[in-house]
Amino acid sequence: MKGFELQGITRDFAHPTPHAVLRGIDLTVTAGELLSLVGPSGSGKTTLLRIIAGLDRVFGGKLIWPDGRRPTTAMVFQEPRLVPWLSILDNLLLVAGEASRDEATVALAEVELAGSEHAFPGQLSGGMQRRASLARALLTRPALLLLDEPFISLDAACAGRMRRLLATYWQKHGVTIVLVTHDLREAVELSTRIVALSPQEGRLMKEVPLPLPRPRADAAIDEALAGLRALTDGWPQPSDSSDSASARCGPTTAQTSHFSRARSRFLALSRSIA
Ligand SMILES: Nc1ncnc2c1ncn2[C@@H]1O[C@H](COP(=O)(O)OP(=O)(O)OP(=O)(O)O)[C@@H](O)[C@H]1O
Ligand SMILES: [Mg+2]
Repeated sequence: MKGFELQGITRDFAHPTPHAVLRGIDLTVTAGELLSLVGPSGSGKTTLLRIIAGLDRVFGGKLIWPDGRRPTTAMVFQEPRLVPWLSILDNLLLVAGEASRDEATVALAEVELAGSEHAFPGQLSGGMQRRASLARALLTRPALLLLDEPFISLDAACAGRMRRLLATYWQKHGVTIVLVTHDLREAVELSTRIVALSPQEGRLMKEVPLPLPRPRADAAIDEALAGLRALTDGWPQPSDSSDSASARCGPTTAQTSHFSRARSRFLALSRSIA
């Protein structure tokens, strides 16, 4: 794969009220890089990933692929998307093909799911489903791998092992990766470059190259992190209870009143049926 380019990407949504999410995103992703995309909740990270994946085609601007078409792409969604009536192993075989049974078994063992191959998704924890989704994506050997907060519900030790698995996979296969994360430390540990979306304007706020040697020692990560604090300037803080901060994190006032009108209509309808 030769990398790709985003030119002036914009995305507006009409519902529940018209709002702009992305505004003029320009970004070149180099072949074989492991790019982290960070930004506060609601800043448009998933929206941008879905556009890159080709799942959302209603955007402004251009996505430019060197050979004119998107390379083989795999995506790990923010919420694991496994077929509920297939076993975990069959979920992997559904995309990789029956001939990949041995490889799929190895891929599941690598994400510490040996022994759970024949369980159904509903019988696994959220973190186990997330790891199964990661195994499924890696198994397809994509040229482009899109990861939306893949380690979010894992305990710290397990997340650390999964990050090392991903780093080893990336180095071995030379895949291009775009990783969405809230965790700056994770981004510093893994990435060749971090790009941050601004909290309000839907623009790229900053790009930070990370030419640190690998594997990255804790001390080197701490030092790089100290220089990156400005990246989170303007992100809503847990202690920040001002109206503007809570509005950025949750629904807007217009969205809230839309939801409360919908709720009233639903309750009235329920009463009329009863
Ligand atoms: N299909 C949709 N219809 C309407 N609004 C949408 C839709 N998808 C996303 N949005 C809005 O776009 C904004 C950005 O959403 P997005 O999911 O990209 O944020 P995010 O940065 O991934 O957040 P998080 O870190 O919480 O996952 C939000 O305000 C969201 O409500
Ligand atoms: Mg998201």
